[in-house]
Amino acid sequence: MTNTLTIGTPKERHSGENRVALTPESANALQKLGYKCLVEAGAGVAAGYTDESFRAAGVDVVATAEELWDSAHLITKVRPPTDAEASLLTAEKTLISFFYPAQNDSQMSKIAEQGATVIAMDMVPRISRAQKMDALSSMANIAGYRAVIEAGNHFGRFFTGQITAAGKVPPAKVLVIGAGVAGLAAIGTATSLGAITYAFDVRPEVAEQITSMGAEFVYLDFEETQQDGASTGGYAAPSSPEFREKQLEKFRQLAPEIDMVISTALIPGRDAPKLWLADMVGAMKPGSVIIDLAAERGGNCDLTVTDEKVVSDNGVTIVGYTDFPSRMAAQSSALYASNVRHMVADLTPDKDGKVAHDMGDDVIRSSTVTYQGEVTFPPPPLKVQAIAAQKKPPEKALTPEEKREAERAAFQTATRQQVGLISLGSLFVILLGVYAPASFMQHFIVFVLACFIGFQVIWNVSHALHTPLMAITNAVSGIIIIGALLQVGSANGLVIVLAAISILIASINIVGGFMVTKRMLAMFQKS
Ligand code: NAI
Repeated sequence: MTNTLTIGTPKERHSGENRVALTPESANALQKLGYKCLVEAGAGVAAGYTDESFRAAGVDVVATAEELWDSAHLITKVRPPTDAEASLLTAEKTLISFFYPAQNDSQMSKIAEQGATVIAMDMVPRISRAQKMDALSSMANIAGYRAVIEAGNHFGRFFTGQITAAGKVPPAKVLVIGAGVAGLAAIGTATSLGAITYAFDVRPEVAEQITSMGAEFVYLDFEETQQDGASTGGYAAPSSPEFREKQLEKFRQLAPEIDMVISTALIPGRDAPKLWLADMVGAMKPGSVIIDLAAERGGNCDLTVTDEKVVSDNGVTIVGYTDFPSRMAAQSSALYASNVRHMVADLTPDKDGKVAHDMGDDVIRSSTVTYQGEVTFPPPPLKVQAIAAQKKPPEKALTPEEKREAERAAFQTATRQQVGLISLGSLFVILLGVYAPASFMQHFIVFVLACFIGFQVIWNVSHALHTPLMAITNAVSGIIIIGALLQVGSANGLVIVLAAISILIASINIVGGFMVTKRMLAMFQKS
């Protein structure tokens, strides 16, 4: 256990980087956790946070980076450290920043030798509990939004269709390739600006999200078994060459009518797949725009030049910038600083200004890349991933006959099981009917049928619909409470106890449901 009392944020040294890892708001939250906050003079200026605003939030502003690295026990920054910064990471110090450990081997070993701890914000796993710390998603969300704004900036026409006195303007057509975090943000922005938006992703489960955001999912006439997202940590698995061919064929078909392409397709740890080929650019209308968010990993478009904007021979603008979040530094700093302070909060369970680095915690374990003199990257698979992988062993490819035979066998087994269960149930009801009073039997049969139908209905509801389902279960709980209230005054002690238990359980369900719904609604509230 390390005692950490001071958190320091230096100015980013990477040229052109405008973000900062601390904001006055996040400093307030960190101080409530018991930490003292330091910031290097001028660190927040490019993101719109003056030294005065930090001072007003109780942050000490120090003049030089040396002073900061020397005094701070916990250093938070955005970009991976420079070599000079890394050499200042002595034992007992903890760095929290983007680190990209897979590409940063030598620096990682060196820091481990120095005995410092590094928490890589890019290694936060994509699981529900860690969403508040998921800085990659925060940045991708901003990049997706900015990509559309950037596309609009280079596109000489409106997004939305208009009928004006001077004539009719058709709406722009936007194609978003890859509907992960950045893609969905781009879809939301493009549809809200009025464009007709199409989107494609190799993960069929995102089709619902795409259509719910007002875009059209581009379907391929192709069947391929994709892995369950949970076993790949919410990321896509590589698709087959045949699938890719179908995909390219579809894109080729779409290219002449698409005005703006926002491409975000990527599988972590791999080079970006080439999906928008030179001939597709050639087929686009002059004035069209491609924003290639995957530029950092080589780009999804054949003609992308990383960090540059180029114009093709037929007048299509291709933007390969890799610093979209930095171009919206105020917003990205606010979100990143918030992700960091949530990480610090998880490291400080007792809110006493001391780091309790719990390597038993899945999120902290996955993000820690050096700890107590050791390199701790790569992390072991997440428990949830391991369970998902265990549950679904890779399926053997079956011929159509084998598939039909397997389906027939599964159907026969299921039918046999159901007939067995129904016979057993009927026997039980008949036996009960011999002894129980008629009024009880009437209620009992309704109860059994309600349980059976309720179970069948709810079991088949897809995960995406569990939230609306909660509203229905709340209504059912309400009915249970009314029934139980009518019974709670009974003279029979057992009935009173059962009624009280029903009221308790149904109330927990209702209150829990409201709390979850409130949190979810808060995510969509604009102010
Ligand atoms: P993500 O993993 O959430 O989304 C990527 C999506 O691409 C996934 O939905 C995946 O299924 C899909 N995909 C993978 N292969 C595909 C294929 N062959 N065809 C169609 N879809 C495919 O990633 P996220 O967080 O949305 O980031 C997207 C990209 O944006 C990444 O390349 C990331 O590095 C980049 N990015 C760029 C920034 C910039 O300033 N240029 C800033 C932040 C992120």
